[in-house]
Amino acid sequence: MPVDIIRTINRVGKWSLNRAIGKRRPIIGVFSLTHYCNYFCPMCPFGDSDKQGQIKFASKNDLTTDQWKQIFDKVAQYCIWCIVEGGEPTSRPDFMELIRHLHSLKMPITLITNCSLLHTIDIDELKKYVQFITCSIDSVFEESYCKVRGVTPQTYQRVMQNLEMLTEHNVPHYFNSVITKFNTREFLDGSYFQRAVDLGVNAVSLTFVEDRSDVDYSLLPDRDTINQICKAVIDHIKSKKDPQIMLPPQYFEQILDHGRGMFDECGVWKSIFVNGNGTVMVPCWKYNDPKNTYSLLEKSVEEIWDAPQWEIAKTCHDCQVLGCIWYSSQPTTTFAQNYMRGLSKMINRHAPEISKDI
Ligand SMILES: C[S@@+](CC[C@H](N)C(=O)[O-])C[C@H]1O[C@@H](n2cnc3c(N)ncnc32)[C@H](O)[C@@H]1O
Repeated sequence: MPVDIIRTINRVGKWSLNRAIGKRRPIIGVFSLTHYCNYFCPMCPFGDSDKQGQIKFASKNDLTTDQWKQIFDKVAQYCIWCIVEGGEPTSRPDFMELIRHLHSLKMPITLITNCSLLHTIDIDELKKYVQFITCSIDSVFEESYCKVRGVTPQTYQRVMQNLEMLTEHNVPHYFNSVITKFNTREFLDGSYFQRAVDLGVNAVSLTFVEDRSDVDYSLLPDRDTINQICKAVIDHIKSKKDPQIMLPPQYFEQILDHGRGMFDECGVWKSIFVNGNGTVMVPCWKYNDPKNTYSLLEKSVEEIWDAPQWEIAKTCHDCQVLGCIWYSSQPTTTFAQNYMRGLSKMINRHAPEISKDI
């Protein structure tokens, strides 16, 4: 689906005008379609081991099809792009109907999924509506994959088959990996990248795990291993080999130099993150409290974005290594440099002699 340029220009114009008069408004919509996930990832709150309890909770609290459509209509007035995730979004029986509705609003869509249920979906129809599928592939090796994601080897095999299906059907997709102490080896020796290419992918997004505050364990690798991984990834980026790393090298350089990603002000306000029950937490999930929680069914985006709790985000630096927060908090120069890097890589592929000068 081509992106509607006029619509995008219109939304960016509105966003910039608001910025000019000192109003912050969201530009990316993130929809966490359901509280249910069929996985058991220890780093994720949706990895809950009590699946019966989770199903009960989801059936009571998840928004209905019509309620999600109402929310999409509101968010589409502001946002140039949306991200559909969860829980596991593809587990909703009305998943395709919701995606179809977003498409009818001309919203470009990135779907984040664990890929384990893609064979239950009409992939050729899905391809008509989504720009990209982000495949959460934390490890490309069965043993560590099953450990990080708390699933059986059969599930790993199913995911591998579904990845093949995406390639066969020419569905644009890339991998996202969360680096924990369970999957360090493949980044240290680069085997993750080689296998990603073998699996038909030419771009990979990475983030170190952001440890949960509601559990008493840490999944972050030790400091020395983190540093070695940063060096290995920076070397990979410099080599200009496939796959392209979607985060700029500065993310890894800063973690190497400062032990964390650096930013002045958290950019969380640029996205509207809607929970499975239609609520938005201001400024984010880390401040989960009824007094910071607003229902997007009852309130407008304007009302929620005028809430006083956004002030918290101006000074909060709690997320130390979470790639998406780091990225949304960077100055535009970081994006420009990243764009130039992508351009240089493309030229390198097609005219290597010119790229030496870039
Ligand atoms: C919450 S999941 C929901 C979508 C879907 N179930 C999936 O697995 O892709 C969205 C993304 O968040 C990532 N994630 C979960 N917990 C995380 C954490 N503690 N730190 C960083 N990323 C995390 C997952 O690996 C996944 O790529």
